[in-house]
Amino acid sequence: MNRRRFTWAAVCAFFGVAVLMFLRFFFPRTLFEPSPRFRIGQPSDFQPGVDERFRQSHRVWVVRQPEKLFVIFARCTHLGCTPNWSETENKFKCPCHGSGYDMEGRNFEGPAPRPMDRAHVELDAEGQVVVDLSRLYACPPSGGCGFEQAESFVTLSGTRS
Ligand code: FES
Repeated sequence: MNRRRFTWAAVCAFFGVAVLMFLRFFFPRTLFEPSPRFRIGQPSDFQPGVDERFRQSHRVWVVRQPEKLFVIFARCTHLGCTPNWSETENKFKCPCHGSGYDMEGRNFEGPAPRPMDRAHVELDAEGQVVVDLSRLYACPPSGGCGFEQAESFVTLSGTRS
């Protein structure tokens, strides 16, 4: 009698696990990443220099210069590490192999072959800066630098140059 109970318990456990595994297929493992398009505020919300507010959440720095504002995608162009901004040295420094970039994200030391990419930026109807990381502008050493494209920055007067 005990053996019969044990056999039924094992069979029920087997089918119970099989049903649970079957149901698990209806809940796929998905990764919910933040939208590549997001608002960061008004241009006047940023002080001159490098702003790190969005580095953790969106992996970007916002750089405000006297005439314009642009967004650097924080990915080293050597092997993809995330550099750090050093206020005292006034440069981005990659912790992996030592590449250095100036405040505009242009490489000047280490193995990085080109500047860091910039994100597409535009102003919406409310004057908010909208960043789109699905559209990056690169500056390859061979020329044709995308940083000159009007969509890679906003002028502080609120118009494109
Ligand atoms: S990944 Fe940045 S220097 Fe190598």
